[in-house]
Amino acid sequence: MIIGSKLYYFDSVESTNEYAKTLTKDAPEGAVILVDEQTGGRGRFGKQWYSPKGGIWMSVILHPPDPSLIAIIAGIAVCKALHMNGVLPGIKWPNDIVLNGKKIGGILTEIIDKIVILGIGVNLNIREFPDELEATASSVFLETKKHLEKKMVFDTLCKQLDDCYIMLKQNKVTDLLTEWRHYTILLGQQVVIEMPDKELSGKVLDISRDGALIVMRSDGKIMRVVAGVCHLRKK
Ligand code: BTN
Repeated sequence: MIIGSKLYYFDSVESTNEYAKTLTKDAPEGAVILVDEQTGGRGRFGKQWYSPKGGIWMSVILHPPDPSLIAIIAGIAVCKALHMNGVLPGIKWPNDIVLNGKKIGGILTEIIDKIVILGIGVNLNIREFPDELEATASSVFLETKKHLEKKMVFDTLCKQLDDCYIMLKQNKVTDLLTEWRHYTILLGQQVVIEMPDKELSGKVLDISRDGALIVMRSDGKIMRVVAGVCHLRKK
């Protein structure tokens, strides 16, 4: 296995992604940093990531040939690991893991000197969220009333990530995208995508081989979206 070639486990760090950055020169590819809690967990767009005890907070050091599909394979691996434990979340592009319409996990990839730090957060057994997150965030426990053993889910997740990463290294992109289509909640849905300078509304048609979302606007024009925040339009 590449993923988990070395495990760094701590009770608490500020952010596993930040810790991973201090190891990039020394740690082997696939090294995983796993902690019980983060005191300054980070999300996309510089947001904070609520990371108390009970979640899976981890970062993986990777040397991929091309980083563009790393978040995609991480989403597949998280969904597979939870599905194997009887919990059925989906992927909301680019990298939200959602269950019953609420976010239960997220992925933050950062690139330093061609090395990818893949950060994964899964709200597994968290029993409450701060007021400001309650409307949008949840956990596996709150949504299913199941308490899954963290070590078991972590081990399954590493194995699934390893399988997907090997497929990526073998350039089996068609197979990986087939898996993504199986888990995404977006295909055929009307969405609004917020980008830094504009907004795009339309119907999701597919994902491209480099991880961009393919969206058809109401005027029929097909757009490729490489980054943004995606919202499902209310029916
Ligand atoms: C998002 O905004 O959806 C991405 C959240 C990523 C959170 C994980 S938890 C482990 C790793 N360390 C961090 O500080 N962030 C990521």
